[in-house]
Amino acid sequence: MLKRFLTVLTSSVMKKQAMGVSGLMLCGFLVTHLAGNCLIYVGPEAFNTYAHKLVTNPAIYLAEAVLALIFLTHIGLAAKLTIENKIARPTNYYMRQATGRGSTLASSTMPITGLIILIFLILHIIQFKFGPYYEATYDGVVMRDLYRLLIEYFSSPIAVAWYIFCMLALGLHVSHGFWSAFQSIGFNHPKYTPLLQLLSKLYAVAMTVGFSALPIYCYLQGAK
Ligand code: HEM
Repeated sequence: MLKRFLTVLTSSVMKKQAMGVSGLMLCGFLVTHLAGNCLIYVGPEAFNTYAHKLVTNPAIYLAEAVLALIFLTHIGLAAKLTIENKIARPTNYYMRQATGRGSTLASSTMPITGLIILIFLILHIIQFKFGPYYEATYDGVVMRDLYRLLIEYFSSPIAVAWYIFCMLALGLHVSHGFWSAFQSIGFNHPKYTPLLQLLSKLYAVAMTVGFSALPIYCYLQGAK
């Protein structure tokens, strides 16, 4: 019984479903991260105060642990499925014929764009979360001056170009990943799947443009 349960849990279908669910959760995270980062446009006080409230909330440790678990699940399963698919090449070919996966630029480059996002993410966390610590004081409250760090980091056109390149990869990845996740969890409808595909493209454009605009804005602010 237990053996059967474990077989089902580790089956390819189950792994695809878990990858789809974790991918959709990450899509949700991106929306909240972008919305929070948009406070950069309001100014240093608004952005730093928001970041300070976030990191001093006791629930942050739990939120970070859950987020890390979702990222690790998604990346781990993606790597495992990609390797398994490579080994079972003939089956993969027929699967592509049947599902249309691997037939567009976005779907065939999923492992490459995924890898770019992973490299981006590691550097991103080192640069900002564990980067230089500046301080700012607002209404007597001392907090981290993340705004200054962003302006400083994005004063380099190379850093801005790297971010835009990574956000293009992110857009390409989610333009397929978003609707494909619904397929993986079993949602496939002749009327709604094309709508989901359109929504997927709109979401991808919003993420790429939204996240790319921030480094450009920081660069221009720093150049003033
Ligand atoms: C221009 C685009 C972006 C900017 C300006 C930005 C800014 C930041 C900053 C300032 C932090 C540090 C927050 C803190 O320590 O309080 C951070 C953390 C983080 N960012 Fe971004 N981010 C961007 C894009 C992204 C993207 C595209 C992803 C995902 C693919 C991402 C994932 C993360 C993660 C996972 C953390 C760590 C969160 C935590 O542990 O609390 N970021 N980001």
